[in-house]
Amino acid sequence: MISDKMQEAINQQINAEMFSAYLYLSMSAWCSDKRYDGFAQWFKVQAQEEMAHAMKFYDYIFEQGGQVKLLAIDAPKAKYASLMDCAKKQLEHEKKVTALINGLMDIAKKEKDYATDITLQWFISEQVEEEKNAEEIIGKLEMIGDTGRAIYMLDKEMGKRKFEED
Ligand SMILES: [Fe+2]
Ligand SMILES: [Fe+2]
Repeated sequence: MISDKMQEAINQQINAEMFSAYLYLSMSAWCSDKRYDGFAQWFKVQAQEEMAHAMKFYDYIFEQGGQVKLLAIDAPKAKYASLMDCAKKQLEHEKKVTALINGLMDIAKKEKDYATDITLQWFISEQVEEEKNAEEIIGKLEMIGDTGRAIYMLDKEMGKRKFEED
């Protein structure tokens, strides 16, 4: 069993992960519109990954005999200034998500909820990965500038990403 407080916080996190999916899907749509097809694919996969994160929490609540509560998902921004703008907003967002996951861990530790602690450990590592990914994209865009011929090559590379469940 998980406490009401833990359950409430995980339900909030399902919503945050769904919003992440929405945010990356909106970046994907913006990229498609601008013909950055590779980045569009990359962000679409990222959106799928976020859905999978939401589902991990969703399944976990049921595993613990708890109740899932689905909340309204905010609309993400639809317009971005550039690829760099997307990448910077991605990093900013992932830092917020890291803080949320850390907050969940704080509750689990305080409540000596070892099962939730173990489940959250996966997410702690995942957030290290997510921030690193966003930083790498920013780094590449800084290197080549976010317009011009080199973008064509980077876009191609980004388009190779495929969704893998982990
Ligand atoms: Fe996530
Ligand atoms: Fe990830």
